[in-house]
Amino acid sequence: MIYDFEEVERVASQIRAPLKPQVGIITGSGLSGLADEVEEPLVIPYEEIPDFPPATVEGHPGRMVLGYLAGKAVVVMQGRAHFYEGYPLERITLPVRVMRALGADTLIVTNAAGGLNEGFKAGDLMLITDHINLVGMAGDSPLFGPNDERLGPRFVDMSEAYDRELRKIALEVGHELGLELRQGVYVMVGGPTFETPAEIRFLRLMGVDAVGMSTVPEVVVARHGGMRVLGISHISNMAVLTGSPGMGHPVKKEEGLHEEVLEAGEKALPKLLALIKGVLGRI
Ligand code: HPA
Repeated sequence: MIYDFEEVERVASQIRAPLKPQVGIITGSGLSGLADEVEEPLVIPYEEIPDFPPATVEGHPGRMVLGYLAGKAVVVMQGRAHFYEGYPLERITLPVRVMRALGADTLIVTNAAGGLNEGFKAGDLMLITDHINLVGMAGDSPLFGPNDERLGPRFVDMSEAYDRELRKIALEVGHELGLELRQGVYVMVGGPTFETPAEIRFLRLMGVDAVGMSTVPEVVVARHGGMRVLGISHISNMAVLTGSPGMGHPVKKEEGLHEEVLEAGEKALPKLLALIKGVLGRI
């Protein structure tokens, strides 16, 4: 274990937060503009926080923003580090531990994801109902190693990882805003390669609706720490197969897909922002 209770407290104590945040928010690829809406912001670059993994990927600025959104005290991680950047999962999820230590009991986590459900289209927002932790099942978890009971229990109940009540509120807000929200299962792959056609078929068979390279370790740690979680995927591209069955290839080429993900995120931002503000207004 790298970050036991004392280590997390040590990192959190370096952040002289002007408020006690109730909600933590993590912004996904192309969605970092969310943090620009925070009022009375205190902005801290990750480099100034001990051990925070610098976000190296374009579209992930790497700043912690504390302030108010829709009247709620929030802490926003503007950008995240990913497993494929080479950090241990425990370090990638340190920001979630720190949010918790600062006082947040709710996590709103966002990401960009490839749509696998044929009923989806690029630009959709999907409330995550459940996930498949492919990286965890293959043998890596931020919870590996000795467990510090002060941070959470050894065995974590994931039977309702994504809070039903928060999802209900999000659906109500979406309805009022005239947003058609999708719901579905998210799967985390290690990346950084996008999926091959065979992998896309495999993931579909597993029964997932969207695929991405983040979020799941953060949710694992949030649940370990007893936080309620709302997960929202922005379907930035469709990972659909074309051609004859079994001979398909993704419609989108790998070249430029990350740019496409970022561009699509900027377009989706107003919808996502309205949804999150609406939810914050009700919790
Ligand atoms: N695959 C994996 N991760 C992603 C995708 C995708 O198609 N789009 C955005 N993140």
